[in-house]
Amino acid sequence: MKAAVRPTTIIQSVKLNRHLGFDVVLASETFQHTGSFKFRAAYNLAKNVDQNTILTESSGNFGQALAYACQLLDKKCIVVMPSTSAQVKVDAVRGFGGIAELTDVKVKSRRARLEELIKDFPEAYVASAYNDKYVIEGNASLGREICELSQSIDYVVAPVGGGGLTSGIIKGIKQCGKNIKVIGAEPTMANDASRSIKSWKDYGKRSRTTNHRRWCSCFSYRQFKLGNSQRWN
Ligand SMILES: Cc1ncc(COP(=O)(O)O)c(C=O)c1O
Repeated sequence: MKAAVRPTTIIQSVKLNRHLGFDVVLASETFQHTGSFKFRAAYNLAKNVDQNTILTESSGNFGQALAYACQLLDKKCIVVMPSTSAQVKVDAVRGFGGIAELTDVKVKSRRARLEELIKDFPEAYVASAYNDKYVIEGNASLGREICELSQSIDYVVAPVGGGGLTSGIIKGIKQCGKNIKVIGAEPTMANDASRSIKSWKDYGKRSRTTNHRRWCSCFSYRQFKLGNSQRWN
């Protein structure tokens, strides 16, 4: 993994620290291969699964990361994308040699199209962009890098969608034996992760992913509350 991924880019600003009254270290994955942390997940997955064909659904970042990882590892990759996906992302998947399968989600959902492809390619590995042990282990490399920083870190605030990134960071931090709290952050107007965890907490089994159940509810839930208890409730 270390040889394949670019180390995260660390950015610090004295002005920002002064403004906030505490020190902030920005770990930017913008300069990672294909422009996001998703390459960590995708490369680890493509490298470790036995199958030579990998299917996934993605509106962009995971799809292009997987396409690039598969190109490096000489595997075949098919990405189901909504036909409304940004053209630049569709072009990126295709540019890396992946097959972008566009679906008009008003007619056929991504999942439905993926199910068809699973029937067509029964030997393929079906990758979730977040609910997959290889994805989480790949993202754990970022958690380990955070542990290795010379600055002492108390909290990591990371964007959360499906939970693969936060799960991975938590896993990486635990592997280093460090006690760093992880806060998942998402826009109030698109708070599906916090609603998902809350729904699981309230109803037991409505969580969107087992991944959330296993990792975020165990480790992040309190940190979510810590970060913003009013908005959480
Ligand atoms: C740039 C970026 N940040 C954060 C996320 C959320 O990651 P996760 O779904 O692993 O929680 C995504 C997921 O698509 C993403 O593309």
